[in-house]
Amino acid sequence: MILDQLSIPIVLAPLAGGASTPELTAAVSNAGGLGFIPGGYLAAAALADRIFETGKLTSAPVGVNVFVPGTPAAPGTAEAYAATLADEARAADVALGTARFEDDDWAAKIELLVAAPPAVVSFTFGCPDRNVIESLRRAGSEVWVTVTTPAEAVQAADSGADALVVQGIEAGGHQARFLDDPAADGYGFGLLSLLQLVRAAVDVPLVAAGGIATGAGVAAVLTGGASAAQLGTAFMRCPEAGTSDVDRLALAGDIPTTLTRAFTGRPARGIRNHFIDQHTADAPAAYPEVHYLTAPLRAAGRARHDAGLVNLWAGQTHQLGGELPAGRLARSLAAQARAACKQAAARLSALDAVQADG
Ligand SMILES: Cc1cc2nc3c(=O)[nH]c(=O)nc-3n(C[C@H](O)[C@H](O)[C@H](O)COP(=O)(O)O)c2cc1C
Repeated sequence: MILDQLSIPIVLAPLAGGASTPELTAAVSNAGGLGFIPGGYLAAAALADRIFETGKLTSAPVGVNVFVPGTPAAPGTAEAYAATLADEARAADVALGTARFEDDDWAAKIELLVAAPPAVVSFTFGCPDRNVIESLRRAGSEVWVTVTTPAEAVQAADSGADALVVQGIEAGGHQARFLDDPAADGYGFGLLSLLQLVRAAVDVPLVAAGGIATGAGVAAVLTGGASAAQLGTAFMRCPEAGTSDVDRLALAGDIPTTLTRAFTGRPARGIRNHFIDQHTADAPAAYPEVHYLTAPLRAAGRARHDAGLVNLWAGQTHQLGGELPAGRLARSLAAQARAACKQAAARLSALDAVQADG
């Protein structure tokens, strides 16, 4: 397992949409962790370029993340939401994008990864069928599947996944759940609960994600049964990250996060702002249609430094992130985790001593 070869138990989360760069991915892999390349929103050819550019910066293992396509929303769903955004678009002097369904170049990406297998291929928004998993494994990749419930964990393990990324509700960005059923909104698991439930349900190695920003957080998930911690938001202010200035500023502040479909049509966690407050109530389950609909508004917000229009994806602990170079951050998290584990062991020894005295 790749997880057994890492010298630090730190995985860089795939960060689609701009924060990830080849430099960020390579820095974490070069530090002894596992860097990820986000394949989401990239055509297969662009993903191939990204893999090539990253390969120039590291010879250590890296992972590639792919979005599993869903199904189109009912006709008219995104259009009805677009009507509620008309005033917003007019005020910003921006034309809304065209809501469209697409499969994110799924087949071409799988073909690319089978032809040039990375160390790990991870999946988000679903569990690919057994044949896809098998073809990637035969080609030489490990296959990881991101799960948000014990039932998803069992399905992924039964489908042949080598490891699971266990994503708690604290996580920044999209919730990875397999089916985007609005009836499940509000029922997400906190990471510690989910980790215990998944550990009890399946026997494969686990990587824990969601709200981890310190060595103590890393230590907590290692003692909870994970083999490594996957961090996204904590790396977004690193100098190597492509994070925009608007996002960097918001990440450094302490405005709380919330889940919303307003920007993309799927639940995602971001820092509360004007757009979330105004449009979450009207936003339908329609991914990626709504993603394309709001793209010009989000781009205009970033260009004009108007944080109110931007999807400020962030996990619940975003204000704990710093600005260290990514390799130093990864190594320091591992060192702090070791210290936190020692402290916990010392606490248990002290309790033993009290018991012995008694
Ligand atoms: C800006 C951003 C982009 C993300 N993009 C992806 C992605 O492309 N694929 C994916 O599986 N997860 C993505 N995630 C979720 C992460 O994989 C991970 O679950 C999350 O970052 C963990 O929580 P944390 O941000 O509190 O560390 C993204 C998260 C953020 C903040």
